[in-house]
Amino acid sequence: MQISNELLNKYNVPVPRYTSYPPANHFEDFSKADYIDMLIESNKLSPELISIYIHIPFCNKMCFYCGCNACHIGDGHLVKPYIDALKKEISMVSAHLDKNRKVAQIHYGGGTPNAIPSEFIHEINAYLFETFDFIEKPEIAIETHPGYINEQYIEDLKNAKFNRFSMGIQDFDNNVLKTVNREPARMPVKEIMDLMKHNSSEVAVNLDFIYGLPHQTTESFLETMDKALELQPDRLVTFSYAHVPWIKKAQKILEKAGLPSANAKMDMFLAAYHFLAQGGYNPIGLDHFVRDTDELYIAVQNKQLHRNFQGYATRRTTGQVYAFGASAISQTENGYAQNEKDTKAYIDLIESGEFSTNKGMAVSQDQIKVREVITHVMCNKELNWNTIAQKLDLQIDELKQHVIPDEQAIKLFENDGLISMDHNGFKVTDTGSLFIRNIAAALDPEFKSQQNKYSKSV
Ligand SMILES: C[S@@+](CC[C@H](N)C(=O)[O-])C[C@H]1O[C@@H](n2cnc3c(N)ncnc32)[C@H](O)[C@@H]1O
Ligand code: SF4
Repeated sequence: MQISNELLNKYNVPVPRYTSYPPANHFEDFSKADYIDMLIESNKLSPELISIYIHIPFCNKMCFYCGCNACHIGDGHLVKPYIDALKKEISMVSAHLDKNRKVAQIHYGGGTPNAIPSEFIHEINAYLFETFDFIEKPEIAIETHPGYINEQYIEDLKNAKFNRFSMGIQDFDNNVLKTVNREPARMPVKEIMDLMKHNSSEVAVNLDFIYGLPHQTTESFLETMDKALELQPDRLVTFSYAHVPWIKKAQKILEKAGLPSANAKMDMFLAAYHFLAQGGYNPIGLDHFVRDTDELYIAVQNKQLHRNFQGYATRRTTGQVYAFGASAISQTENGYAQNEKDTKAYIDLIESGEFSTNKGMAVSQDQIKVREVITHVMCNKELNWNTIAQKLDLQIDELKQHVIPDEQAIKLFENDGLISMDHNGFKVTDTGSLFIRNIAAALDPEFKSQQNKYSKSV
């Protein structure tokens, strides 16, 4: 696959990432009472399963590229009060939940969950196991930084029942890591992966990478991908570096170090894409690569892939997401609610017995319909009006009235080979999957008024 400069320039415009619909920048003031209503209503919604997200904001050192909600751990004095607040928040939320529903997934993100002593993570998991019932074989996942992990810590996480580890490698080139202020892995990544998998056939390890950082070239990124393939992770993620210096000021430092152009970035991605495909990894969604046997790949074959803020999910692990911790976003079928972002302010509010929710939105019936279309296109790379209309119990014309597809843009996508039309809608081509955010934006009636608030699509 080759992408012309003309195509790249045409479509490399700011568009939402669509990790949620409506995107998080649509969130408005959302009161604690709104959150309680959202929790109570969610008990009746489908899917019935529960997903839990735990946010650990602390990091030992701040990477200049970071787009996450993270803070420096300092002398660590906030860690214990934070864990106590998490437990209290879990108890406050669960008081409103129907606990006959089972938990299918726990995901720890950050920040760096492994920046804090493992006994705290153990304590939270034990509390969750006490509070909720679980499906058989729930997914219990944690994001980890290989610069701060050791044998004992991995053992502790396994004892705490984690069965999926994602490890942020970003790049194997230490010069790139140094420029972005990031600690390299503390021991060989193979050793870390072996320890994670040791004696546990059901443990999966994902590796995360970023392309588009200073000093990266196609050649150097391919070397990194080569090392990644040697390690044979269960999943591999190549994030496109999202440059949003108007929100994340530290990213300005990278402009001085010299960021690769959009063309160079696209070259890196395409080279990695072909290389990983030859190595037996299938692309999923925007940026994930998995093997044929992976449940995400099987879900794509059945057109049943879903996603939430934590990433891609199958029907087995998709539930109403209840999120805990500073900046965490709960995501139910009919709403989004985000907690206070500042770690100390979050702790203070929860300690005083109040929810810390301050942003969010109720998702309207109209938006639910658009979300169904956008999520389906983003995950399954096709649009079948008939299937989606049936699912929503609507006529196709009614569905289109809600979505207001931008027909002119869709015609352009077809002419440019991004989609191939059929009598049910369209299929996204391999070229089109590189610009899938642009395609989704043409099906988003609220996009045009918000266009300048996003990172570029490449
Ligand atoms: C919370 S971090 C993972 C855990 C740990 N803090 C670490 O850095 O390894 C989640 C992932 O988001 C990705 N990420 C962070 N900032 C990004 C940005 N500006 N653009 C694209 N990906 C980014 C990184 O690949 C990172 O591994
Ligand atoms: S990328 Fe990870 S380690 Fe680096 S600052 Fe962000 S959350 Fe922390």
